Amino acid sequence: MKTKDIKKISRVDFFKTGALITLGATGIGMVGSLFTPEEANAQGVGNESKTTWPLAYPSAGLNAATARIRAHDAYWSGKGCSYATFEGIVSCLRDTMGGTYNDIPTEILIYGHGGGSGWGATCGTINGAAAAISLVCAKAVSDPMVSELYGWFTQNLFPSTAANTIAINNGYGVNTYNMNLGQSMNHSPLCHVAVSNWCNEQSVAVGANERKERCARMCGDVVVKAIEMLNGYYASGTYTATYVAPALNATCLSCHGTAGSQHDVAANMECESCHGADVYPHSTGKNENIKEEFSIEQNYPNPFSETTTLRFQLENPEAVTIEIYSLNGIKIKTLANDEMFSAGHHTINWDGCTQKGDKVAPGMYFFNIVTSKGKKSLNMMKL
Ligand code: HEC
Ligand code: HEC
Repeated sequence: MKTKDIKKISRVDFFKTGALITLGATGIGMVGSLFTPEEANAQGVGNESKTTWPLAYPSAGLNAATARIRAHDAYWSGKGCSYATFEGIVSCLRDTMGGTYNDIPTEILIYGHGGGSGWGATCGTINGAAAAISLVCAKAVSDPMVSELYGWFTQNLFPSTAANTIAINNGYGVNTYNMNLGQSMNHSPLCHVAVSNWCNEQSVAVGANERKERCARMCGDVVVKAIEMLNGYYASGTYTATYVAPALNATCLSCHGTAGSQHDVAANMECESCHGADVYPHSTGKNENIKEEFSIEQNYPNPFSETTTLRFQLENPEAVTIEIYSLNGIKIKTLANDEMFSAGHHTINWDGCTQKGDKVAPGMYFFNIVTSKGKKSLNMMKL
């Protein structure tokens, strides 16, 4: 069930069910809980002593070079990359602004290391810097600026030449490796993808000191980028993002994005980094990896005018789903919905009608067959 099916208890229901009376009887005065979070926010419940956000940013800007060294060195504190970028920026704000900044424990970002406590999800360097951006920019600016940071992170070579040069000149406070490190493009905001790409291209083991120093230098690169954007925004009062996604993303999203026929993808990551460059009709992908544990044959007759028959073969008994789609990806009919089929040959007919029983228009249609072994598709022509 989707969350929208879960009924929220409104304030009225709350009164009706007598929960208030129960609370009253126990003498617990939980007035705040009578509001939904949205209502509480509108009414300012619990907000009286909340610090005003976004926090102030120094009009003269921050010193990116100082923040770079701090972020690099903070990485080696053992608190992780995400903490390091957040601390790199916030420590400079602490120095110049004091006040509220003194009260922010930057350790709030320690969870972000290794893409989230080692999960390899969002790279902690951009995660920590994005948190700092959101601390000082309202959503209308924070969103494009964070998006820019992620895009820049995917499309540039890291660690940067500037970061390497400082190490060679022993310019960092913590110096575990004072040589050049090879540069790779991340292609992804994911820690796992970025780290494994780099390790493969540079032939460095993931646990090696060089890999850690690569992440430390990237902490510096990321805070420099974030501070350049913040300084620019606070100096001019406007922010314009420049990131352009790979052209292939637009092709994929023309069908899979919010305005497309499939309407099943909301993502800005480089599609090709995981799915390859196979544009529709998709020939590769999962299909190629499936061992011949099930197979399908071209339907007959094809092209067809009245009814066509699909044959498929299973190596083992399987739950099978068979659906028919139109060329623009609209589901026309479900012929089998997670139905058990025995091992061996099977046939299934389609009468050229929709789920409601209407005859479909002439044109190209697809069978999709899904089993636990994967998915296969077949196209056919209705006359
Ligand atoms: C012209 C429209 C169109 C375009 C462009 C398109 N797709 Fe699709 N895609 C579809 C339709 C329709 C389906 C569902 C039917 C199917 O499985 O073939 C689908 C299915 C998929 C699936 C799931 C099925 C599978 O093969 O595993 C993935 C993943 C996918 N698309 C990724 C992409 C990516 C990545 C791109 C860009 C490189 C892309 N699509 C471009 C229409 C499109
Ligand atoms: C980090 C890797 C990654 C990136 C980048 C990525 N995807 Fe995916 N995508 C996946 C995985 C993993 C699944 C789940 C596939 C599965 O369960 O078989 C998926 C699922 C999908 C599906 C549904 C597949 C289905 O079986 O119906 C579509 C469509 C799709 N992705 C399109 C896109 C498009 C378009 C983009 C670019 C905007 C994109 N993906 C970027 C990894 C990725």
